[in-house]
Amino acid sequence: MQNDIARVLLTEEELHERVKALGEAITADYKGKDLLVVGILKGSNVFMSDLIRQINMPLNIDFMIVSSYGNATESTGVVKIMKDIEQSISDKHVLIVEDIIDSGLTLKYLTEMLNTRKPASIKLCTLLDKPARRKENVDVDYVGFEMPDEFIVGYGIDYAEHYRNLPFVGILKPEVYENK
Ligand code: PRP
Ligand code: MN
Ligand code: MG
Repeated sequence: MQNDIARVLLTEEELHERVKALGEAITADYKGKDLLVVGILKGSNVFMSDLIRQINMPLNIDFMIVSSYGNATESTGVVKIMKDIEQSISDKHVLIVEDIIDSGLTLKYLTEMLNTRKPASIKLCTLLDKPARRKENVDVDYVGFEMPDEFIVGYGIDYAEHYRNLPFVGILKPEVYENK
């Protein structure tokens, strides 16, 4: 599995430090508010687990399962909701947690859909942002790292459902996904 990685972009230590700083910023911004952290599965799984342990205040968590890529390498633009949030978000402060924003199609669709449910606020937190790939403009409130336009895996992020369990973020070797 690690043989398929061309280069490590973010080490475990770098990820830990940045996630800690994001958690501290979120704690400061939401102190005293009714916070619901919503992870977008499956990609956000690893980041969200680390992030919530760096948020030092009472909060609730929930998850949505959304899929736009399937096993393809690029978003099809079709966002499928496989599992919705299980509670009302009305009057709650919702923080959506993503692993990566690429075209922006997933978050554009999700925020518009969730806004119709009249939450007190919706903010977005992503570990990684690839601004060069943006097709839909989305306002992201918390960004861990800006990434180059490379094929990235690890720390929750997959290629064809593999590599999510790598503890670092790295660039996949092109021969892994070329000629597929
Ligand atoms: C990936 C990633 C984001 C989304 C970003 O999810 O986790 O949710 O794509 O791409 P976009 O900005 O172009 O919409 P994917 O659909 O691959 O599902 P997964 O999280 O289960 O891997
Ligand atoms: Mn995802
Ligand atoms: Mg994926």
